Amino acid sequence: MSIYQKLARPVLFGLNPESAHHLAFSTGKLLQKSKLSALVAAKKPGKELAQEIFGLEFRGPVGLAAGFDKSAELLPLISELGFGFAETGSVTDQPSNGNPKPRMFRLPEDKALINRLGLNNPGPDVFLQNLSSFSVKSRAKFPVGINVAKTHSPAILGNKGIEDIVNCVSKVQEFADFLVINISCPNTAEGKTFEEEQSLENLLSELSNARGKGPLLVKFSPDTELSLLEKLVEQCEKHEVSGYVLCNTSQSRAGLNSSKTKLEEIGPGGLSGAPLFDKSIERVRHVYKQLRGQKPIIGLGGIDSGQKAWSYLQAGASLVELYSGLVYEGPWLVDRINKELSQLLDKEGCQNIKEIIGSGVTL
Ligand SMILES: Cc1cc2nc3c(=O)[nH]c(=O)nc-3n(C[C@H](O)[C@H](O)[C@H](O)COP(=O)(O)O)c2cc1C
Repeated sequence: MSIYQKLARPVLFGLNPESAHHLAFSTGKLLQKSKLSALVAAKKPGKELAQEIFGLEFRGPVGLAAGFDKSAELLPLISELGFGFAETGSVTDQPSNGNPKPRMFRLPEDKALINRLGLNNPGPDVFLQNLSSFSVKSRAKFPVGINVAKTHSPAILGNKGIEDIVNCVSKVQEFADFLVINISCPNTAEGKTFEEEQSLENLLSELSNARGKGPLLVKFSPDTELSLLEKLVEQCEKHEVSGYVLCNTSQSRAGLNSSKTKLEEIGPGGLSGAPLFDKSIERVRHVYKQLRGQKPIIGLGGIDSGQKAWSYLQAGASLVELYSGLVYEGPWLVDRINKELSQLLDKEGCQNIKEIIGSGVTL
């Protein structure tokens, strides 16, 4: 058992999940401000884990998933934890308080979380102000993605929804090393996503006109049927999308150990953590095959060990991300994954992590 699991987790799990997140986050901010980040700092990933993708230097393949640092406040600390990059946001064109509380829940029997935060974030002005305190020098070796979603409001629908996303993209894109368009948040006010052919086509056409030169990725849900996912990816390819983030949280509750009563009490929201692993990796493998390994994929969902990260890379992900694993395993998880990946590479007699990408898929 790690120090986190022995000491910090019992304290955090004694609080409701959103308060625990705020406590962990404000402790992080305190460490960052008092320049005490060294107390939690991990070793940088080994050279064998470094790759260049989109012309950017990723010192390690493990990144922080969107949703943890929605307001880009904690990047200096996050960059000390062994991560190779981070995805901040989702940020939306208008600030939002999200859904009423409680809206975040733990399922310890499943090593999972359910959230219906509803895209709470401070909006682009505050977001960019916060982001500017992460120095250009630090960012040279630590790419920062900005994840953009539609503002959480049932009044912003259809073409207005597209305009809203495009406005936000125009505001933030010059500050992003890569952009991710979150078309798959299950917690939208109108209960709809852009994962439908016509809506996606309309969105991508408008984005094509507005986007700059930087990489633009699209994030899908693990609930999208493979046949539909294939069609949507085809559409994205026509619009020269640079890569894919697979996957977001799930609305499904199939196969969970948590009791039916508990799940009913919690109600709707996006499921994350261990139960996502199989569904999400299946989608990574599928898209990797479809595109014959020609486009970078960021794989995520249920990663809490080096072996799971390795499986995503073998399935065709060039990079991986995590969120829920941090809640159950603590911040040193990232360092552990990096070490396990280096050991696995060594065992396989490989020089660089690139050699592993897609190695478990027959094209
Ligand atoms: C509390 C919480 C908030 C999240 N917020 C966002 C978000 O704002 N935008 C987004 O694209 N994904 C969001 N996600 C989804 C994660 O980025 C990720 O896709 C998902 O949790 C699966 O990874 P995991 O199993 O490692 O947690 C959120 C996840 C959690 C648990």
